[in-house]
Amino acid sequence: MWLTCSSVGRKFIMALTGACLVLFLTFHCVMNAVCIVWPAAYNSICEFLGANWYALIASAGLAVLFILHICYAVWLTIQNRKARGEIRYSIERRPAGVEWSSQNMLILGFVVLAFLVVHLIQFWAKMQWVEIIGNHGTIPAVAGTLFIQEAFSQFWTIIVYIIAFIALWFHLQHGFWSMFQSVGWDNTTWIPRLKCIGNWWVSIVIALFVAQAIVFTVRAHENHYKTDPALRAQYKAMLAPAFADAFGPDAAQAVEAAPYDQISAQIRQMEMQFNSDQARAYNENNPKFEAQVHALESAVKLFDYLEEGTDKDAESDPMMMVQPQ
Ligand code: HEM
Repeated sequence: MWLTCSSVGRKFIMALTGACLVLFLTFHCVMNAVCIVWPAAYNSICEFLGANWYALIASAGLAVLFILHICYAVWLTIQNRKARGEIRYSIERRPAGVEWSSQNMLILGFVVLAFLVVHLIQFWAKMQWVEIIGNHGTIPAVAGTLFIQEAFSQFWTIIVYIIAFIALWFHLQHGFWSMFQSVGWDNTTWIPRLKCIGNWWVSIVIALFVAQAIVFTVRAHENHYKTDPALRAQYKAMLAPAFADAFGPDAAQAVEAAPYDQISAQIRQMEMQFNSDQARAYNENNPKFEAQVHALESAVKLFDYLEEGTDKDAESDPMMMVQPQ
C-alpha cells in the first residue's frame, strides 16, 4: 500500500497526523484559556466532555493519532539513517541553512512524549480514566480546576512544563511548515510564507501555554481553586447526583441550593450521626443506608480537602479555637 510502503506515503501520514495534533493543541490551549478567565465555565466544559461517548471517541482518535505519529517518526528516522549509512557519521557539522530543530525532531518528540506521560497521569488518569473504571477519588472527576490546583501546587510541575513547552516550540515550529513540504506543497513562494504563519501560530499557542502554567502555579499556591466561593458552590453542586441516588431528589436540590458553609456543616453533622451504632441498628433494613453513608463520607472528604490549610480549617480545628487568656 502506498501509505505504508513508500517513503512519501509515510511522510504523508506524519504530516496528516501532525496537522491534527496541531489543531488539537490549539483547541486545548483555548480551552485552558477559559480556565483563566472563567474557571467555573471551564469545569462545565470538563463536565460536558467527561467520559461521554463522544469524548471517549475523540480521546481514542487522539490516542491513535499520537501512536501513528510516534511510530512513523521512529520508522522514518531508522530508514533515513540506514539510507545515509556511513555518510551520517562522516558529517560532523550541521549543513548551512539546515535548522537545529529539523535535525533533532525525534529527540524533541521524545521530550514531549515524556512530558505527555507525566501530564496524562496528572490529569487524564484522574478525570476520564476514573470515570471509565468507576473508581472515584476525593475530588469529583469533573472538577478540572481542582486537578489544576493539585498539579500546579507541586513545585516541579512548572519546571517540567516549561521544559516541555520549549521542546514543543522547536518541534512544532519545524513540523508546521515541513508537513506542507511532505504533502508536496514545495514551492518557493509558499514555503517562506508557511514558515512565517507557522512561526506565529506555534509561538502564540506556546506563549498561551506558558502564560497558563504561570497563572495556574500562582493561583494554586494561593489555594485559589479550593477557596473561591463560586468554585466551592460548583464543587458542592457536583455532589448532587450522588445525593439524588442515595436520599432522593429533594436532598439533591437542597445540596445544590444551600450555601456552601451551611451544607458543609450539615453534612458533617449528618455523617457523624449516620456513622453511629444507633443509626446503623435503626437502618438495618434500609437498603439505601450504605449508599447514604457513602454519599455523606465522600462529601465530607471533599469538604475536608477544600478546607485543609485554609482559614475555615483553622476555625474547625479545636486547638486553634482556644482563645488566648
Ligand atoms: C498549561 C498547560 C496544560 C494544562 C493546564 C493542561 C490541562 C489538561 C487537562 C485538565 C486535561 C484533562 C481534560 C479532560 O480529560 O477532560 C488534559 C488532557 C490532555 N492534555 Fe493537557 N494541558 C496542558 C498542556 C498540554 C500539552 C502541551 C499537551 C500536548 C503536548 C497536552 C496534551 C493533553 C492530552 C493528550 C490530553 C488527553 C485528552 C483526552 O482525554 O482526550 N496538554 N490537559
